[in-house]
Amino acid sequence: MMIMQLSVPGMSILTEFLRHPLLTGAIAPSSPALARMMTEGIGLEQARTVVELGPGTGAFTDAILRRAAPGTRIIAIEINGHLAASLADRYRGEPVDVVHASATHLANLVDHPVDAVVSGLPWTVMPEPVRQRILDAVTAVLAPTGAFTTFAYAHATWTPPASSPPSSASASPSRERAG
Ligand SMILES: C[S@@+](CC[C@H](N)C(=O)[O-])C[C@H]1O[C@@H](n2cnc3c(N)ncnc32)[C@H](O)[C@@H]1O
Repeated sequence: MMIMQLSVPGMSILTEFLRHPLLTGAIAPSSPALARMMTEGIGLEQARTVVELGPGTGAFTDAILRRAAPGTRIIAIEINGHLAASLADRYRGEPVDVVHASATHLANLVDHPVDAVVSGLPWTVMPEPVRQRILDAVTAVLAPTGAFTTFAYAHATWTPPASSPPSSASASPSRERAG
């Protein structure tokens, strides 16, 4: 029998999907197996700075924390204000900086170069210019030997791209130090 964790206390991807379907882009968090694949072989064990885009409820954040060496700085950029605040609570005491902002602002939010960028962003539901801005920002911050991992749900390609961000997304970027 396979048991999937659909939510962690105070956070639910399903609830956020119902509130902001075209920003959330999924009804459940990623599985531990996907989290393992997304974080292996990209040098997290040697990384000094790791950026996570769209952490959601922290499925990849947990996997990054497990692999990263002590002292590695992890910056998690989440556009959803409710998830960002809950994540900051969840990772209090851990070396995770949760930033409530859009990944489009990435280049202004982190000190570069960055050793690895791990993305949980819902690319298939994003407007093309947003995708392009984020990919340009990733290119701008990554170290020459840095790594970028991402995934996309092919089944979501039927959805129309989001037309406007929710009110929480238009807030100025804010940083909440969890650790
Ligand atoms: C499909 S969920 C993935 C969550 C988590 N990474 C996982 O795999 O379970 C996508 C996440 O990206 C966030 N997101 C969407 N657009 C974003 C943007 N432009 N900047 C930052 N986060 C964004 C959503 O709020 C949501 O938390």
